[in-house]
Amino acid sequence: MDVPLTTLLGYSLIESAFDIMKLLVLVLLATAVLAKHEIYQGWKSYYLGPSTTVQLSTLATLFDQYEVDVLSHPVLQREGVVLVKPEFQGPFTKALDTVGINYRVHADDVKKALDIDDENIAKKKQQSRTRNNGAQLPYDNYQELDVIYEYLRNVAAKYPDTVTLVQPASTFEGRPMYYLKISTTNFEDESKPVIFIDGGIHAREWISPPSVTWAIHKLVEDVTEPDLLERFDWILLPVVNPDGYSFTFSHSRFWRKTRSTDQHSLSYLCPGVDGNRNYDFAWNTVGTSNNPCTDIFAGGSPFSEVETRVVRDILQEYLHRTALYLTMHSYGSMILYPWGHDGSLSHNAFGLQTVGVAMAEVIDSKSLPNFPKYIVGNSALVLNYAASGAAEDYAHSIGVPLSYTYELPGLSSGFEGFHLNPIYIEQVVQETWDGIVVGARRAGDLFPGRK
Ligand code: ARG
Ligand code: ZN
Repeated sequence: MDVPLTTLLGYSLIESAFDIMKLLVLVLLATAVLAKHEIYQGWKSYYLGPSTTVQLSTLATLFDQYEVDVLSHPVLQREGVVLVKPEFQGPFTKALDTVGINYRVHADDVKKALDIDDENIAKKKQQSRTRNNGAQLPYDNYQELDVIYEYLRNVAAKYPDTVTLVQPASTFEGRPMYYLKISTTNFEDESKPVIFIDGGIHAREWISPPSVTWAIHKLVEDVTEPDLLERFDWILLPVVNPDGYSFTFSHSRFWRKTRSTDQHSLSYLCPGVDGNRNYDFAWNTVGTSNNPCTDIFAGGSPFSEVETRVVRDILQEYLHRTALYLTMHSYGSMILYPWGHDGSLSHNAFGLQTVGVAMAEVIDSKSLPNFPKYIVGNSALVLNYAASGAAEDYAHSIGVPLSYTYELPGLSSGFEGFHLNPIYIEQVVQETWDGIVVGARRAGDLFPGRK
């Protein structure tokens, strides 16, 4: 066939112009991703392995002194991981040497490590998109807010008999907050105990929301424990802090707090409140700060944040029949219970310890050999630091008999990068569900509700 040369040329020209465009977009995207972690240029992270309680206490002081950001708290026999700014790396490691605390570098170049994490996540995202058209919630990769929200809306639409989507409020930045109420009796059978699980109050703890969305999956989509659905009314709030959570994907990987700017005259420079210091329990008395530029800023007043008010209101509304409250954090492989502000024990300490151990035992039995064993105990004693205004203490103080903070696995030795490797997400959410199953059944036996 006779094709005029001009057309041929024109076609190939247009095609290559298109290619150049594509390339440009890719380059722009890549630089945007790389520019993202600029603030962590020069930072390093370290594994810390204190071997005595004296060393542990010394560490607490050093963390304050050198503005160390603790990603995973070291405890005896278990290394933690911390981030250190360039200007403090010298003095910090020197102080560690002086007092004989073991340490080794975790990431020599934090920015580079984050870039690599991002690349892996982007690659994975592409793969799972082609695999399931982006429709299903991924458990081989981290879950971004819009994907979680789409899922919550879909589940509610698909299972209207058991699932109700509630939008109790909007966040400081105007994002919707969502939770699901799951019940075979539309929450109308007042004799049923309620179980409430939340996640994502600390923005950067990316393994937390999937542990809650998986519980939703197991309660409505893949029901292998029908007794749990029959016996309880469930409230599942996967992302307490959507503003902060989005911000960790778009801007700053290690953001922990909310994003409010109305709490302090400096809040415009340093936004956000630590949600887990904002509850009205011994508020702002220990392990907190009045400085909005720190990660443990308690806010201007208890419940200053709409996000914690939403959790408070759920707890209050169903208080008369809530048997179990779990709030999901990472990392640490720990199940922690009140009182976290002073290490004292509550009237229900025996129940808390017994049910905590039962949950931990089943998780350990389902876990992988490279995962650390769960530690169960009082928050302040296990972590070796007291902190007031936390959710699990607040819930217990108003009368929820079984109230726990989960520190999910990841980032201790044996784990690399700043995310739990996505290949382990499914493992963690599954084993955590097994813990929830045992916790729920025990809670139901101890607090069966009205007969
Ligand atoms: N890592 C959590 C935090 O710092 C632990 C909270 C433990 N609970 C407590 N009541 N202190 O927020
Ligand atoms: Zn946390």
